[in-house]
Amino acid sequence: MLEKIIILDFGSQTTQLIARRLRELSVYCEIVPYNKFPENAQNVIGIILSGSPFSVNDPGAFKPDLSSVRGKYPVLGICYGAQYLAYSSGGKVEKGNSGEYGRARLTSVDRNDSLMKNTGDTAQVWMSHGDTITALPEHFTVIAGTADVKAAAYRIEGEKTWGVQFHPEVYHTEIGMTVLDNFLAVCKAKKNWTPASFIETAIDGLKKQLGNDKVILALSGGVDSSVCAVLLHRAVGKNLTCIFVDNGLLRKNEFEKVIHDYQHLGLNVAGIDAKAYFYTKLAGVTEPERKRKIIGKGFIDIFEQEAQKRKDVKWLAQGTIYPDVIESLSITGTVIKSHHNVGGLPEKMNLKLIEPLRLLFKDEVRKVGRELCMEEHLIKRHPFPGPGLGVRILGSVTPEKVRILQDADDIFISGLREWNLYDQVWQAGVILLPVNSVGVMGDERTYENVVALRAVTSTDAMTADWVALPYEFLAKISNEIINKVRGVNRVVYDVSSKPPSTIEWE
Ligand code: XMP
Repeated sequence: MLEKIIILDFGSQTTQLIARRLRELSVYCEIVPYNKFPENAQNVIGIILSGSPFSVNDPGAFKPDLSSVRGKYPVLGICYGAQYLAYSSGGKVEKGNSGEYGRARLTSVDRNDSLMKNTGDTAQVWMSHGDTITALPEHFTVIAGTADVKAAAYRIEGEKTWGVQFHPEVYHTEIGMTVLDNFLAVCKAKKNWTPASFIETAIDGLKKQLGNDKVILALSGGVDSSVCAVLLHRAVGKNLTCIFVDNGLLRKNEFEKVIHDYQHLGLNVAGIDAKAYFYTKLAGVTEPERKRKIIGKGFIDIFEQEAQKRKDVKWLAQGTIYPDVIESLSITGTVIKSHHNVGGLPEKMNLKLIEPLRLLFKDEVRKVGRELCMEEHLIKRHPFPGPGLGVRILGSVTPEKVRILQDADDIFISGLREWNLYDQVWQAGVILLPVNSVGVMGDERTYENVVALRAVTSTDAMTADWVALPYEFLAKISNEIINKVRGVNRVVYDVSSKPPSTIEWE
């Protein structure tokens, strides 16, 4: 069985990043809520305590009993995790004069300490905390400071426990990967987390779990569900039927293209035309979360109908991935958007759910796809939201608006491919705004729709930045859309990053 690090999540924005970094170092890890350390945990080789939006002195702060982990496993506390380790042992944590945010340089590094090996004397680290540890308990030894913080890092004598008040998981901490790697060395990690090892373990597990049961898979055309399909096909062969629903919210000609691609992969795919069903359910609905829920529920209804038509189907497979799981189940209770893969499922469902990729990040899914010998154009496809154009038509959805958006989107995406920009962009699309603007075409006044182009770079969709696409390209696309797409007389470009915006507009 695969060994793992457990990350106890105290609600920090960067908890996911910790997991990503460990996986980049080929070590498997799982994030669990701060108070849900698994009983009888097997194959756990170390524990990381994440940061938190709270101060340890807040009445509502998360303060679990750490006796089941401290002294039993190697432990690394990060930011709040480090402050809580100190605080819960009798140390003092107080509000700093101005807090410490952004870059800082380490000083007085104890180079003999196992955690600080090969980190140099003045490494740059990233800080983000209002509180600071002002008094360390007995047996806590400082192993690095900064100009403002005496205990930027410490170890606890007699235990394999460390605390760092900086964030080794963020890119701006130059020595971040070294510190995490040093911690993994203390954990004696074997570094055996690779796409090939994942595939082997996943296929074994699926064979055991599914036996001779029949499975239907919800295909979306995206990389996640495609990889999921190929993986399941390897595990259960002809017992897998893939269902690809045309919900009327797909990109132009996407339905035909996707069916063709999957048949090439040897998968058994049924294409279902449910356009009318979705348009009826969505008629007049403007509220984004309601639209998402309706679309999510629509998918499940159709899958259940299809499952009933095919006798003996017990399982519904989905290509849900880790960020969907984490974003939907945030421990601080803030749900930004309910991603239909996770949030929109009805409480009662006749099919059992199976999600073989639910612990993978997007880049890992792509690596798994390559290892499964899937074609590059399928693997590099931009992410596309489950609710499709439904969340890119702001306000109510109608077939005519879908037609306008599909035509504009097709011009933009084909253009990105022609100009060799497609692979430099994480995700792109067009949004149909719920406003009309005045224009002039020939001698005629027009009063028509405005569309926004959006193109972002990202590594995991948790944060994103808009792409500085060449002006000549934007000019050409704008011109082509306005000339060719009936109903559009203005094109704008979205220059917002995430946060504070999100990638999709709804
Ligand atoms: P946001 O808009 O939250 O999007 O910045 C982050 C990533 O998730 C995609 N997205 C969705 N995917 N169902 C999905 O399967 C959804 O409801 C959904 N909403 C957003 C979005 O396209 C981006 O890649």
